[in-house]
Amino acid sequence: MRHLLSMRDLDRDGVLSILDTAASMHDVQRREVKKLPTLRGRTVVNLFFEDSTRTRSSFEIAGKWLSADVINISGKGSSTSKGESLRDTVLTVAAMGVDGLVIRHGASGAAAQVSQWVDAAVVNAGDGTHEHPTQALLDAYTMRARLGDLDGRHVAIVGDLTHSRVLRSNLICLRTLGARVTVVAPPTLMPSGIATWAATDGFETAYDLDEVLPHVDAVMMLRVQRERMSGGYFPTAREYTVGYGLTRERLARLPEHAVICHPGPMNRGLEIAADAADAAQSLILDQVSAGVAVRMSVLYHLLASSGAGTAEGSVA
Ligand code: CP
Repeated sequence: MRHLLSMRDLDRDGVLSILDTAASMHDVQRREVKKLPTLRGRTVVNLFFEDSTRTRSSFEIAGKWLSADVINISGKGSSTSKGESLRDTVLTVAAMGVDGLVIRHGASGAAAQVSQWVDAAVVNAGDGTHEHPTQALLDAYTMRARLGDLDGRHVAIVGDLTHSRVLRSNLICLRTLGARVTVVAPPTLMPSGIATWAATDGFETAYDLDEVLPHVDAVMMLRVQRERMSGGYFPTAREYTVGYGLTRERLARLPEHAVICHPGPMNRGLEIAADAADAAQSLILDQVSAGVAVRMSVLYHLLASSGAGTAEGSVA
C-alpha cells in the first residue's frame, strides 16, 4: 500500500491485515511505557485544513508511540492564510524531507491530488464529503471487538448521509467485510442517486428508523453537519430528533446485544440523546481508543521499512 486515500484502496485481506496489526498495537496503549521503535527516524506531518479533535490527536499519538517525529500544521496558523496555494504549502512541507503526510481538507479529492504532488505516503484524514478511511477502519475494529466477525452482521447508519464522508468510507469497509448495511435518513438528507448507489454497492435504504432498529447488531449515528448545510434540511431540531434521533425511548427498540457507535463529535440532544451516548452498549469511547491503534497500524503499513520487523514482532 503506497497511500491510504479511500477504503477502495483496500480489499478484504488488506482491511483484515490493518485490523489485525491494530490489535497488536492496541496492547501498547495498555502498557506503562507506550513506545515502539518501529518508525524511528521517520517524519510524519499532520496537515489539517479543517478542525479536528479525534483524528489529529490520535494520528499524533500514533506517530509518537511508534517513535516517528511528528509535526502538526493547521490551516489557520499556516501561510495558507496569507494566500499560499495548497500545492505550494504541500510542496514546501514535502521539501523538508517528510515520509508521511496526513491530510484533512474541506475539498473532496484533496488528498488524492496531494498524493500526485509528493513522494511521501499520503493518508486521507477526511476530504470534504468524500471519504474518511481511517474512521471506517476504527469503526470496523471497534464493532469486531464486541460482535466478532462482521460477515452477515446488520449495521444501520443513520442521519445526515448527504454530508457524510464517514458514511461513504463505512459503506465500502462494511460491505468489504460482508456486513449487511441499511442507511436511514429523512428524504432531504438521503444523497441524490442513492438507489443506483445502493444497487451497485449492495446496501439497503430506509426512512423509518423505528422499523429498522429491532433488527440490527449495531447502529451508527451520524452527526448533523450544520456547518455544511446551506438550506433547511429539516423544519426544526426537535422534529429531526423525533424522527431520526437515538432517543431514550428508541433505545428500548434495540436488541439487547446491539451496540451504539458515533464517529464524533456528537450533537447531544439532536441525533443522539445522552442516555444513548452514555448507555452500557455505547462504544463511542471504544472508537476513540481504537483510533490510536488503527492509525498506528496504518502508519506502520505505509512507513515501516522491510527491516523494521513485523508489527507483531515489534510489540511482542
Ligand atoms: N470523527 C472525526 O473525524 O472526529 P474529528 O473531527 O474530531 O477528527
